[in-house]
Formats: sequence, structure tokens, C-alpha cells
Amino acid sequence: MPIEDIHEFIKELEKNGEIKRIKIEVDSNLEIAEILRRGMYSNGPAILFENVKNYNMPVLGNAFGSMKRLEIGLEMKDFTEIGQRIVDMTKMDMPSGFLNKIKKLPELSKMTDSFPKQENAGPVTEITSNNASFDDIPILKSWPNDAGRFITLGLVATKHPETGVRNLGVFRMQIVDSTHALMHWQKHKRGAQHSEISKDRGEKIPTAIIIGGEPATVFSSIAPVPEGLDKYLFAGITRKKGIKTVKCKTIDLEVPANAEIVFEGYVDPKDIREEGPFGDHTGYYTPVEPYPTFTLTGIMRRKDPIYVTTVVGKPILEDAYIGKVIEQSFLPLIRMFHPEVVDFSMPAAGWFQGFAIISIKKRYPGQAKKVMMGLWGMGQLSLTKMFVVVDDDINVHDINDVIWAITTRADAARDTVIINNTPTDTLDPASPLVNLGSKMGIDATQKTKEEGYQREIQQQVKVDTNTKNLVDSKWSDYGL
Ligand SMILES: Cc1cc2nc3c(=O)[nH]c(=O)nc-3n(C[C@H](O)[C@H](O)[C@H](O)COP(=O)(O)O)c2cc1C
Repeated sequence: MPIEDIHEFIKELEKNGEIKRIKIEVDSNLEIAEILRRGMYSNGPAILFENVKNYNMPVLGNAFGSMKRLEIGLEMKDFTEIGQRIVDMTKMDMPSGFLNKIKKLPELSKMTDSFPKQENAGPVTEITSNNASFDDIPILKSWPNDAGRFITLGLVATKHPETGVRNLGVFRMQIVDSTHALMHWQKHKRGAQHSEISKDRGEKIPTAIIIGGEPATVFSSIAPVPEGLDKYLFAGITRKKGIKTVKCKTIDLEVPANAEIVFEGYVDPKDIREEGPFGDHTGYYTPVEPYPTFTLTGIMRRKDPIYVTTVVGKPILEDAYIGKVIEQSFLPLIRMFHPEVVDFSMPAAGWFQGFAIISIKKRYPGQAKKVMMGLWGMGQLSLTKMFVVVDDDINVHDINDVIWAITTRADAARDTVIINNTPTDTLDPASPLVNLGSKMGIDATQKTKEEGYQREIQQQVKVDTNTKNLVDSKWSDYGL
């Protein structure tokens, strides 16, 4: 049975020795964040803070901060399964003939099992109030120069104002006062797009911020799913079972019924205020930038909610592990458009949008550049600053292998692509303008004559089979 909520997730983490409880009093102002960072930098467990100064609510952090914890939460070991399920759905044809249709029924029912199901009530509707406030929630201040307290793992729900397709995105929110916060949805993200469409229609956009829910729903909010795919459906596809939803009380939105807390309200795209600074994924403080304001109109919550949070900063912290799952789960989708792609890696140190390595099975000249250009046109991969493309004999997860390929198969002038004035990640501290900068691609595949490499390809050094077998058979005798 898939994990239904954060309480069940904690039980599973506990069974696997993946969580520790801190019972002494800790402060949501800076102290918890520093504990969480130290925990992550030393590969520590998830932490449940049971005694938070001035608050009557526990705080959970680093819950997704290891591959093991993500395997437990998403109940799978091979994350490529997630993307593969979507690819399989796109391939599903509706056969003609009654018998053939019957044969396809198990596949069809697998798909409908993933649809969200609306309920009249759920754990999150245990307490509802129009008299809502951020004041009694232990929202953290993470870094000394942060502009204040930030919700960092809120799943921000909006609906496309025209198509009604539901989105969830994790966008940080800076608390302004008891009922206002600033919504940091970056320009290229779907939340910002929904907000801009609402602005054009002269409307405010109904928005809910969800704390907790099924681990798959948290993952789904961060995942850059293909345009038009409902994130609630994606959560169901991930966990092979549809999530339960309930309607909000003060706005027209559905939210996960198994959430801990739901903040209801709206974002006014015309009420723009200064957001930041905030100590970010890059390891730098993102400077002050204008973002729209969220106004709280109601709250739904459990009787015993847990406030789920995360802390970002110089990699490698919790978000790096979530990024690794995204990298693996989206490989089948990348292959759907670029079948030559063999493997893909976004090293965590490059905060994911900074640097990615792709291996391909190259068949024709210029193919590495075709792949780079394709990926720079694909969803959030368009924000990736640098791509390195290597042959399929290179292990993209081994940086030494990749450096070897770059230094032995790439010529700087011939194989480097620079494209100026392209969209960049809002957080990129190096781009000349916010959201606009350049891309670099390195084609580190072995070059052919057609690609301008006129020399003979040098033979790679490799041991012969006889010597290898001889040394293998005597290895234990050498006394090494
Ligand atoms: C901890 C964490 C914090 C994030 N904060 C932000 C943020 O403040 N703004 C933003 O645009 N994306 C942020 N992201 C990335 C988005 O959640 C991610 O791009 C997601 O796919 C949302 O994009 P979409 O609305 O286009 O689907 C964050 C991701 C993580 C893991």
C-alpha cells in the first residue's frame, strides 16, 4: 500500500533507522536550520523536532535527504519507472475488436487507478477556519541575512486559468505579516505563468499552499513534468494510486486530503513587493527582486499537524537528492524525444540548472549538438547553463571519466558552442542579467572525419584478455 501521509512516512523512516527525534527545545529562528544543514553535510538522518520554542507543532526536516529515504517515500528503487509509466501511457493504443479491448482492460484500469479522487472530507479538514494566520506555524528563518521567515517546502497549488489543468510547485514564500507572504515563483515556472494569465484577465489567482501530503505529491510538486500534465495525476502515476483531494473552503481549488496544513488564499499579480534576500541553493544570497503577494483567506489543518520544511544553501543539501530522483525519473521522457540518449546526470554541486552531462550513442556527424539544442528547448532543461555531451562508453556519473572525455575528445575551438542572450535560471549568480545569460555546450564525443577531425583516431589502451585472466587468477596470491 502506498504511503498516505507524512505520519506514515515517519513510521517507515523510523522502521528503517532513517529518522531521529530531537526532544530538547530548539529555536525556529536559525537554530533548526543549522542543525538540518549539519545533518545533511554529514549524511545524517531525517530529523523530527518535537519541542520548538514558542510553537505547539513539531517540525520535520531532511525527510527526503537521502536516496534511501526517497526509495522509502516513493516505494521504488528504480526511479526511471516513473518516466517510463508516462511513456507507456503515450504508447497505449485503443485496439479495435471486443476481445482486444478486453485484453487491454488491465492497462486501462492501471491508468485510471492513478487519477485523483475527490472526497468530502479528509484528515486535513479536521480543523478549518477563515480566521487564518501564519503566526502559529513554526516557519523557519534559515540564514542570518535572510529577509525573514520563509516557507521552503510548501506545495503551491494553482489552476491554469483557461484550461483548468492543476499545478503544484515548490516556491519559497517570505512571510510579511500574519496574513501576507511573497510568492517566489520564478518567471519560467508554471505558477508564474498562471499568475500572468490571471493578470491579463484582470483577476487575482486562487492559490493554496500545502504542507505535507503523500511523499509522491511532494516529489510531484518539484518535478518538471511535461506541459499540460496535471500534477495531481502525476503524483498518482508516481505512487500507482490516485491521491485523495478535498475542496478548499474559501477558494475554488482542490488540495490533497492527506496534507498536514493547507493555507488558502490568492496571489494578486498587481501587488508586487520586494522579496529577499534569501540564502539559496546556489550557496549565495539571492538579492532582492520584485514578486507578487499572497493573501491568506483561510486555513485547513489536522488536529496534530507536522510542519514539513527544508533548508537550502551551498550544495549538497536535501534538495540534491530530490534532484537526483528527478534526473533518473525523467530519463525515459528525454529518450522519447532523443532516442540516442543513453544516460543523463546533473551533478548536485552544479545546483542542477548549472551543469548537465549527457551520453549518447552517436550515429551521425553533429549529433551531439542536435541533442544539446533539443534539450535547451525542453521544459526546465532550457534553463541549464552548460551541457557536456559524451559517447556511451563514458559514465556520466563519474566526473573523472567525463573530464577524461572532454580533454581527449574535444577541441576547444571546434567543439564548444556558446549561445548568447538565452533564458537562464533566475538564481544564477553569474548571469549578466537576471533571467538572461549565455549557454555553453561541449561536444566531448569522438570526432569523425566529416566533423573536421582528419587524424586517425588513436587506439585506447586496454589490457589483453590473457593478461587480465592471469592477474585475476593470481590476484589473491600477490599479497596486496
Ligand atoms: C526546496 C526547493 C525550493 C524551491 N524554490 C523555488 C522557488 O522559490 N521558486 C521557483 O520558481 N522554483 C523553486 N523550486 C523549483 C520548483 O519547485 C520546480 O522548478 C518545479 O518544477 C515547479 O515548476 P512548475 O510550476 O513549472 O512545475 C524549488 C525547488 C526545491 C526543491
